Amino acid sequence: MHARNAKLPDAFAIEQLIQVHVGDGTLLPRSLAEICENIRDFVVVENGGEIVGCGALHLYGMHLAEIRSITVTNNSKGKGAGRVLIDALMREAQKQSVTCVCLFTRIPGFFGRMGFQEVDKEALPDKIFKDCMKCSRRNACDEVAMYQGTLPRITARTLRSPKDCVQIAPLHA
Ligand SMILES: CC(C)(COP(=O)(O)OP(=O)(O)OC[C@H]1O[C@@H](n2cnc3c(N)ncnc32)[C@H](O)[C@@H]1OP(=O)(O)O)[C@@H](O)C(=O)NCCC(=O)NCCS
Repeated sequence: MHARNAKLPDAFAIEQLIQVHVGDGTLLPRSLAEICENIRDFVVVENGGEIVGCGALHLYGMHLAEIRSITVTNNSKGKGAGRVLIDALMREAQKQSVTCVCLFTRIPGFFGRMGFQEVDKEALPDKIFKDCMKCSRRNACDEVAMYQGTLPRITARTLRSPKDCVQIAPLHA
């Protein structure tokens, strides 16, 4: 089992993997067009040449990235694919000099095992401006915000120069 960066021919498989968990609100819907447009955000996990999981790292800036669209097939659950995905996305965050990685989830137990800790959603205004403001459940959100690294003191809206970021300690994944 190994992770690799996704390529456009993987887009359909990624859409199918995500679609399974959209109905119950576990994952946000991602159209095929949106997946293609953002294919460089995605990592897939392969087992014996078959794609068994996917996940994405959305970059807000050096101060923050978000792990999204994490899922593995039912048959592959409990065999380490989820950890392989998170490790690959955290390596990518480090490669991009990102200092904080966040996510919203209903399964904090899994992400806790991956080294994330819970935080108030208000500490992540980039995410709130991007998704929560448009979400029909924004006043009844049952997701937990989690992060790893150093919480940003700045947002994409206040960031003026890369110098604003280098003052922040590097992420230790
Ligand atoms: C969450 C998910 C990606 C986990 O993938 P997985 O391949 O089963 O996870 P792994 O086998 O790599 O498990 C890694 C560790 O997390 C633990 N774990 C797995 N799922 C867990 C859960 N739901 N709650 C708490 N711990 C969990 C495992 O026991 C394992 O612990 P260990 O390190 O002590 O052995 C998978 O269950 C899934 O696709 N769920 C549906 C989609 C979803 O909920 N995505 C997250 C949206 S935010």
